[in-house]
Amino acid sequence: MNNVCILGAGSTKYGKLDESIIEIALNASVDAIESAGISPHDIQAGYISNVFGVADKQVHMAPVIMSNLGISHVPGLTIESACGSGSVMFREAYANVRAGFYDCILALGVEKITHTGTNQSTTLFSYCSDVFYEGGMGASFPGLFASIARSYMTKFKADEEDLARVAVKNHENGLLNPKAHMRKRITVDDVLNSPVVASPLKLYDCCPFSDGASAVILCSEDFAKKSGKPYIQVIGSGRGGSPAAVQGRKDIDTIPATVAAANQAYKMAGITPKDIDFAEVHDCFTIAEIIDIEDLGFFQKGKAAKAIREGATTRKGKIPINPSGGLKSKGHPIGATGVGQVVEVFEQFTGKAGERTIKDAQIALTHNFGATGASAAVHIFKKVN
Ligand SMILES: CC(C)(COP(=O)(O)OP(=O)(O)OC[C@H]1O[C@@H](n2cnc3c(N)ncnc32)[C@H](O)[C@@H]1OP(=O)(O)O)[C@@H](O)C(=O)NCCC(=O)NCCS
Repeated sequence: MNNVCILGAGSTKYGKLDESIIEIALNASVDAIESAGISPHDIQAGYISNVFGVADKQVHMAPVIMSNLGISHVPGLTIESACGSGSVMFREAYANVRAGFYDCILALGVEKITHTGTNQSTTLFSYCSDVFYEGGMGASFPGLFASIARSYMTKFKADEEDLARVAVKNHENGLLNPKAHMRKRITVDDVLNSPVVASPLKLYDCCPFSDGASAVILCSEDFAKKSGKPYIQVIGSGRGGSPAAVQGRKDIDTIPATVAAANQAYKMAGITPKDIDFAEVHDCFTIAEIIDIEDLGFFQKGKAAKAIREGATTRKGKIPINPSGGLKSKGHPIGATGVGQVVEVFEQFTGKAGERTIKDAQIALTHNFGATGASAAVHIFKKVN
């Protein structure tokens, strides 16, 4: 089996973008191709993650992207897995290089949604839930995560300030990321005084609706070595599933898909959570980051809020979480988010992360899930010196 590497990475800015979904996708793809120092003709397959192409009147996107890159003969595949589309698609691209089917793949995530407005976006996003039990009954994602937050806060005696600290930290990190959607310093009081969206979640506890695209070039280590360009290695990959509707879960303050995916990825990499130097995790709402970092094994169940209070997850803390700004500040263009996390790791490990660089980091983890965690993928990366 091939060792799998990332040879190049590129992203558009995340936010409200005017270009078409195809223009956004091409901008990120061309950035990744140039960063890898390859020609489009080196690409043997294209994997695209996207959820709501239909909102910008373009589905069956993979062949359109390949054609626009001048490589229409290259097979493309579009993959959807709600907010986890990017990491689930990345996993399929990874598996194909690892198995030796391809030496060089373009993995691109893209989303364009903001032009539909908050009401329509909220409705469209609710189709990613179990519509029979959730979306169709009027549940939105802020509402579902509010239930999760209430459960966690009651069981583990956490409070609204604990949630707010996640937003403050991620906005602080996002200030250093020129491509982040929400670049604004906020305080705990700003979060507590922001409008209630679904109690206890307030405006600043929520990620925004974002447009954007991110792309990476995956290749075999032989291909990477021959290129002479800097690269990083993928050393662990895992996937998991959970009951689609929150009501089907035994506990709603843990996400079984995350736990399963993380265990597989740690086992493959031959490491434990203690070996991770930083992580990009799925903080669609502040409560999600708290639950993620427990499910990923960085903190015991019920202990993350205290650790965050003590600064453990800041850029200089014991385990920096979301140095990019995360979904909360960097933004959440849902088809692109999981790929954007890999872009951040690539930039961190190849000297391109500027002021947000995590000092001496060698091993990093990405974690991204769909809906309230019905699907999830975890990947682990190693710096190649
Ligand atoms: C939180 C939310 C309801 C806000 O929507 P909204 O009230 O229509 O927000 P608007 O776009 O009108 O923006 C109002 C202001 O708040 C800001 N804002 C919007 N969303 C924000 C967010 N999530 N965080 C911080 N600021 C935000 C805007 O920049 C704007 O500021 P301005 O007035 O200074 O320009 C919406 O972003 C949301 O539902 N987010 C969750 C998306 C989601 O569910 N994703 C899937 C996760 S599983």
